[in-house]
Amino acid sequence: MPPPAPLITAAQLSTRIAALAGEIRAAVPDDDIHFVCVLKGAFLFLADLVRALDDGVSMDFIAVSSYGAGKQSSGEVRLVKDVDTSLEGRHVIIIEDIVDTGLTLQYLQDILKLRDPRSLRTACLLSKPSRRKVDVKVDFVGFTIADHFVVGYGLDFDEKYRNLPYIGVLDS
Ligand code: IMP
Ligand code: MG
Repeated sequence: MPPPAPLITAAQLSTRIAALAGEIRAAVPDDDIHFVCVLKGAFLFLADLVRALDDGVSMDFIAVSSYGAGKQSSGEVRLVKDVDTSLEGRHVIIIEDIVDTGLTLQYLQDILKLRDPRSLRTACLLSKPSRRKVDVKVDFVGFTIADHFVVGYGLDFDEKYRNLPYIGVLDS
């Protein structure tokens, strides 16, 4: 198999993430930010984003499953691993790799809202608006992309390609 065709290069990722860090800091200027990273796809996005911010940052991890081993969502979202810190009174930002139908993000926003955060926002690296099934609010978007199945920089197909340093297209 040839390597996935590049859609977003490593240099483009790093430039955009530095800008996103600025947007996020501007939205919560004087307070600590608690990031909730959605495993596994958002792990590299989180790692680069938090290193582009200075102090006043903490983080936790949550895991949900919606996709099986293929390219289509099952449409059913299940909590696989919860956070282990309290969100009460904190400025929480969900860190997600990609918003496709929006079902995963809607589920996460619904359950995290019940934890009484002071504010709840979402940052996603990629968004595929043409695939949306539910109208879900995303406060910070890295890149809006067309309807491609993409891998790399944390995103997988069948657990492969997460370590690619760029976003590539796997459509066939
Ligand atoms: P949604 O619930 O349909 O919005 O799907 C969200 C989840 O599906 C993401 O967090 C990804 O894990 C996965 N996903 C959606 N589109 C892609 C893709 O193009 N490549 C890899 N994973 C994807
Ligand atoms: Mg995901």
